[in-house]
Amino acid sequence: MRSHYCGALTTADIDETVTLCGWVDRRRDHGGVIFLDLRDRRGIVQVVFDPDTQEHFERADRVRSEYVLRVSGRVRARTPETVNPAMVTGEIEVLGKELEILNTAATPPFQLDEYTHVGEDVRLQYRYMDLRRHEMQDRLIMRSKITSAVRNFLDGEGFLDIETPILTRATPEGARDYLVPSRTHPGQFFALPQSPQLFKQLLMVSGFDRYYQIAKCFRDEDLRADRQPEFTQIDLEAAFLDEEEIMSITERMIREVFSSVLDLELPEFPHMPWAEAMERYGSDKPDLRIPLELVSVDDLMQQVEFKVFRGPADDPAGRVAALKVTGGATISRKEIDDYTDYVGIYGAKGLAWIKVNDIDAGVEGLQSPILKFMPDEVVAQMMARLGAANGDIIFFGADRERVVNEALGALRIKVAENLGLVEDRWAPLWVVDFPMFEEDPDGAWTPLHHPFTAPSCSVDELLANPGEALSRAYDMVLNGCELGGGRIRIHQPDMQRAVFGILGIDEEEATEKFGFLLDALQYGAPPHGGLAFGLDRLVMLMTGAHSIRDVIAFPKTQSAGCLMTDAPGDVGAAQLRELNLRLRQTAESGKTAESAEAAEDVESK
Ligand code: AMO
Ligand code: AMP
Repeated sequence: MRSHYCGALTTADIDETVTLCGWVDRRRDHGGVIFLDLRDRRGIVQVVFDPDTQEHFERADRVRSEYVLRVSGRVRARTPETVNPAMVTGEIEVLGKELEILNTAATPPFQLDEYTHVGEDVRLQYRYMDLRRHEMQDRLIMRSKITSAVRNFLDGEGFLDIETPILTRATPEGARDYLVPSRTHPGQFFALPQSPQLFKQLLMVSGFDRYYQIAKCFRDEDLRADRQPEFTQIDLEAAFLDEEEIMSITERMIREVFSSVLDLELPEFPHMPWAEAMERYGSDKPDLRIPLELVSVDDLMQQVEFKVFRGPADDPAGRVAALKVTGGATISRKEIDDYTDYVGIYGAKGLAWIKVNDIDAGVEGLQSPILKFMPDEVVAQMMARLGAANGDIIFFGADRERVVNEALGALRIKVAENLGLVEDRWAPLWVVDFPMFEEDPDGAWTPLHHPFTAPSCSVDELLANPGEALSRAYDMVLNGCELGGGRIRIHQPDMQRAVFGILGIDEEEATEKFGFLLDALQYGAPPHGGLAFGLDRLVMLMTGAHSIRDVIAFPKTQSAGCLMTDAPGDVGAAQLRELNLRLRQTAESGKTAESAEAAEDVESK
């Protein structure tokens, strides 16, 4: 139907006769001449109709926004005074000769230009219209280029694309499962995969050696800007490669994707032990673009009477840390109160602070509600340790280590964003040497990753001291976002038994949940490991979008619903009966919290 894309016309096409198909972005009537901005996925071009071509001119007069047209005409240069440098095709226009209206359109629910603010709810309800906007088109086009670059790279490295099931058993990634009732097995459920984890390990046992898949994953968890219930992983696994080799291949892949899609060379990827990341940034996904760090002051606070600080300083599970913000003394009392509320979200019971007005004047030159609780000598040592200078503010956190890290880690980012301290660059890194286990408040061990992660020590060392054991895990972090994570797996049954033992998973439970994997490990499982990247997060960072919803064609809302299709929806009685299901409560509307609960509370007969 067409000879060219609207947005692809250039001065090289001048004098060509072209046929274009697209949507009317805008129509303007300039006294006897009609200008149509015609849009397709490549962009927009201006088409001019004058009354010389009367029949077509009259049709042009009738078209409205978002009508679908087929237009033929001659490309010509614009006169110098009408050149539009803001438009890619701004040096040319098409003198329209023929116009065919392929379809009319109702008035759009919102304007598609970039200047009109539209609420996300409306955008999601009319997603097919939202996706016509050029930002959304550009993002999805880039997404396609990224997956294509990923496939090219992995194909070139000998990885095989193998699909794994969507209807399966629960996979252990720690989130809640989406369940699918089985009609043929009354009362039983499939789980949608939280990741292809177990299957990709089995493929290694089968000898495929290098596997990848651009895989849909499903996790029923609390949603945030960088989380969706249904998301996509670039998932890979390899046998006979150690962690250094896997990190090296996947780092090359990410570099290749950035250079081929954005023409950009990423800097070095430093390797940072998990413990160092927590100590300096209070986070296992530190944003290295922010030039602020946490500094421990426990030893100093062991010398003060102030209980709020002294308690955590003396407690081996506690931490007292300081965050110095260069130039932060301009932060007002009101803002400090807001930051105090903010750290409260993470469980911090307060936010002590010191402003540095005149460092040479000693304690006299400082301003703070806590100075009265501290000997001058301790304050002086602290100022020296922090390298405090005039105009700084220092914030303090004192609590259990986890609370301090989370609170000050989040504050570090918040303050940096508010003060414009985030550097404009790409800051990738690998976080390595994660602990194998975390201790629950009630003293039980839980795995930091899943229970198939290999430790970097022997079975005996692991059993002797689980709390000290490190895992062979590695996360790739970019600009404070966890882009991907992977591990070397346990491939020997005795090590797997030891880990299950520490986690309190007995033989019966292990067999019930992962029996097929444990069986497979007995039949000559090669050493193997892998990694999965969050594709949506990668695309979000590369397109500069603020939410992964903006890089997914049809995303879910914060409450895990779809405003366009109105999913999840009610199911008729007949279908429930066929599935052997009975609802505990009859949902009134299908959309209330109650009905969501009812839907979750399905009982099998
Ligand atoms: P993990 O659970 O760390 O590892 O997931 C890997 C990557 O997937 C992305 N991701 C998400 N993206 C969007 N929405 C979500 N809800 C979501 N959850 C995770 C993140 C994360 O880094 N099977 C292991 C990988 C392995 O060990 O090989 C796994 O799934 O970017
Ligand atoms: P208070 O003695 O409770 O008035 O606290 C004195 C100062 O210490 C106030 O600025 C509080 O915000 C701060 N503060 C209280 N508890 C903590 C804590 N756990 N960590 C950091 N600062 C705190």
